[in-house]
Amino acid sequence: MELQSDRKEKYLFIETFGCQMNENDSERIIGLLRHLNYKVTDNPDMADMVILNTCSIRGKAEQKVYSALGRLKRLKSAKPGLIVGVGGCVAQQQGERLLRRVPHLDVVFGTHNIYRLPELVKEVEVRKTKVAATGFSDSIDEGSFEYIYTADWTEVSLPRVKASVTIMRGCDNFCSYCIVPYVRGRELSRKSDAVLQEINRLSENGIKEVMLVGQNVNSYGNDGGDISFPELLSRVCMVEGIKRVRFITSHPKDMSEELMELFGHEEKLCRHIHLPLQSGSNEILEKMKRGYTREDYMDRVFKLKRLYPDIGITTDIIVGFPGESDADFSETMASIKEIGYDNIFSFKYSSRPETLAASFDGQLPEQVKEERLAALQEVQTEITFNRNRDMIGKVTDILVEGKSKTAEVSAWTGINQLAGRTSCNRIVNLAADDGYIGKITSVRIESAFQNSLQASLGNNN
Ligand code: 5AD
Ligand code: SF4
Repeated sequence: MELQSDRKEKYLFIETFGCQMNENDSERIIGLLRHLNYKVTDNPDMADMVILNTCSIRGKAEQKVYSALGRLKRLKSAKPGLIVGVGGCVAQQQGERLLRRVPHLDVVFGTHNIYRLPELVKEVEVRKTKVAATGFSDSIDEGSFEYIYTADWTEVSLPRVKASVTIMRGCDNFCSYCIVPYVRGRELSRKSDAVLQEINRLSENGIKEVMLVGQNVNSYGNDGGDISFPELLSRVCMVEGIKRVRFITSHPKDMSEELMELFGHEEKLCRHIHLPLQSGSNEILEKMKRGYTREDYMDRVFKLKRLYPDIGITTDIIVGFPGESDADFSETMASIKEIGYDNIFSFKYSSRPETLAASFDGQLPEQVKEERLAALQEVQTEITFNRNRDMIGKVTDILVEGKSKTAEVSAWTGINQLAGRTSCNRIVNLAADDGYIGKITSVRIESAFQNSLQASLGNNN
């Protein structure tokens, strides 16, 4: 009989903050630690190791990490053998300081050091020391960069329909408000062969939709890659078994004609683009160092809308950037009304260490930022709802991803609710049996809500 203390299997609780890059990194972390016999648990009390994969894009995101670490103190005192690790952007930013600031922390690993995690964990397990690894490898150090994406660590562990694939890391844009270039380093693209191999493997494991992720996918290939982003997309679309391809995030200044045309040629390429505007005022855009004017942006967006009337467009907006006047903010408001986004992600400007904008004059009071954010969100809420309502009566294809989050409705009505997305990225709930999961299914949109649509089976028969 195996004794409890002899059990080889250990449990990992991992909490991921922030963007798709971090989500993807967390999957790689899970893959690497699986080889040290760590199995994922969703109960921190059961864990032998807790990892926080952190985000520092705004002050609030960083604060969340310190609160989570605070909560872990009790767990660590109850279970002294627990290993506590912090990875991601806060780890990169704070490095060893974090070990001093948080005594119950064992491992700090930066954004370029995920591949070293097994070695670091072993060091903590065997030598009972605390370790920090936050070195940057901005040279094209393909060995360490590609390592975490190799077959052994990327096996698909859950039955699921879609997966994200990291195609590049870092960012060279240095927008004046943004901490990303400092915590994720210089732009570096993976080789197309490696990306395609990974996608083939995902397809063999039953994945139907891939999302290519990077901070600035339009400049894929400029540093270290071997083909351009549109070429990469075309090749990904050729992978057998993959039915849908998405990508995030595009930078408006680098969006090529070739990419715009691709939406017309590649059937598998979903008609959705996330195109961060950030501000509708040219003066603010210049201070943000975004590299485009409001007019440049509008030209591109309206060209896309003309070519593909069904395309879904979403954006990011920052309100309360230093020096943003009422007139500047009005221009942002006017822009979102003119474009009629499907959805926006809007944020109050947050001053970040090392960034240029942190030293700008005209930092605005919290109250002004809050008022502007509320006003913007109120307008967009209505636009989003109206855009959802415009879908009523339309017959469209969705890829059914799994059970709907409105499972309680299913339980109440006794109807099996599934959820999927349209090509333009709207969430659609559908009453149908589980056999539809993983299938492109034609549906008719029956009703619209703020964040989703309800559909019935369309002309599948
Ligand atoms: N303050 C507020 N929002 C920010 N973002 C990036 N940096 C900041 C900051 N300092 C937003 C941008 C970006 C999104 C991921 O986060 O809108 O597109
Ligand atoms: Fe940050 Fe700008 Fe790079 Fe986006 S493009 S990650 S906002 S520096």
